[in-house]
Amino acid sequence: MVAHRLTVIGTGYLGTTHAAAMAELGFEVLGLDIDEDRIARLAAGDLPFYEPGLPELLRRNLAAGRLRFTTSYAELAEFGDVHFLCVGTPQRQGENAADVSFVDSAIRSLVPLLRREALIVGKSTVPVGTAARVAGLIGELTSENVELAWNPEFLREGFAVQDTLHPDRIVAGVPSAAAEKILREVYAAQIGEGVPFLTTDYPTAELVKVSANAFLATKISFINAMAEVCEATGADVTKLSQALSYDDRIGGKFLGPGLGFGGGCLPKDIRAFMARAGELGVDQALSFLREVDAINIRRRHRMVDLARDLLGGSFDGRGVAVLGAAFKPDSDDVRDSPALDVAAAIQQQGGVVTVYDPQANANAARAQPSLSFAASTAEAARGADVTLLLTEWREFRDLDPEALGTLVAVRNIVDGRNALDPERWRAAGWTYKALGRP
Ligand code: UGA
Repeated sequence: MVAHRLTVIGTGYLGTTHAAAMAELGFEVLGLDIDEDRIARLAAGDLPFYEPGLPELLRRNLAAGRLRFTTSYAELAEFGDVHFLCVGTPQRQGENAADVSFVDSAIRSLVPLLRREALIVGKSTVPVGTAARVAGLIGELTSENVELAWNPEFLREGFAVQDTLHPDRIVAGVPSAAAEKILREVYAAQIGEGVPFLTTDYPTAELVKVSANAFLATKISFINAMAEVCEATGADVTKLSQALSYDDRIGGKFLGPGLGFGGGCLPKDIRAFMARAGELGVDQALSFLREVDAINIRRRHRMVDLARDLLGGSFDGRGVAVLGAAFKPDSDDVRDSPALDVAAAIQQQGGVVTVYDPQANANAARAQPSLSFAASTAEAARGADVTLLLTEWREFRDLDPEALGTLVAVRNIVDGRNALDPERWRAAGWTYKALGRP
């Protein structure tokens, strides 16, 4: 292994996972964040978010001395020769476009301090055209030989460690053969395992990332659009999805009908992609993404309607147990969470809502302080007039309808993720409703 010293700027999901995974592969890694509290926690081996397998990886590599954290750009510039940029690019307040100001401020902080050759590797999801602009900015900030590569990340929350150590592919927009050589050395372990390594120009690399997320979002909204048609005809979208999945041109992944997509990536990425297409004069090419977004949001309204119908048309003073707050299972992330959106809407319409999520209660309470939270399914369900399954955690899939039935006031359930067996719940005396199923 070539002994590159790596740095990682930005210690969110992406940066922390990348730093720990690269250390696990044997590199010396220094992670930086401007959030001092976050850095203190990481340095103490205390992961500030939930991600299966990552705490062990973090602690093992801290203990081995391969992984360290800092808030000092001077230390970072002195330490590393390959700098991974993993800062956030959130949706701009009140707009669809992405806010890339953290990318720019990281570059402005780092580059003037570099005293020797370096490669900066952008991993954040950015509007196409950002890498070329940032490369220009780097040139203005230094006369050292500092190159920029753009190497988008495809990890999923909940599978972040596995996706980083064993990705489907590595894509890199590279400016030179020298930059490509360094990246091949950095990713030697993955490439050696047979992971495809594709080099491209900057805009192609940037576009691979956003088009992948746009495709995944489209697949989910496609099946949810079919769910709407199923609801109008009495058809069953789960059977439909299963039948489609046997055609391997279509495939079954991301064809799960339900409450739709949320999280920090898919929703904001399709919106930022549309905004960027507008700036480039090709908004028509992506106008279908507006529908993808609209279908997705309509599922949340439908969920609220189904629950209200079960209660005879009004939530007023009725007990509503909400199971799940995270945007998906195995995560404590509530950014743009469909579950939390539904819970808040029902409360606003007069429902007495109690939420339970195995990991996301604390984040959900910060995002929606007016909601009440319970420490278990049993506590949330006690006395409920309707129970809503909104995030398909294993422990909810495995619920026993008989046992839960003894706690609730009325055996009404809406399965927002098509995660339960309707026969079994109906046999236990529940009125079972689901999205896209009779
Ligand atoms: C997504 C992509 O899957 C990653 O490849 C990408 O790297 C990441 O965004 C990113 O841009 O950083 P993630 O946001 O972690 O990853 O979550 P997903 O597993 O993609 O799930 C997104 C949403 O789709 C969840 O709310 C999930 O419940 C929903 N979903 C997923 C469905 O509604 N139906 C499905 O069949 C699959």
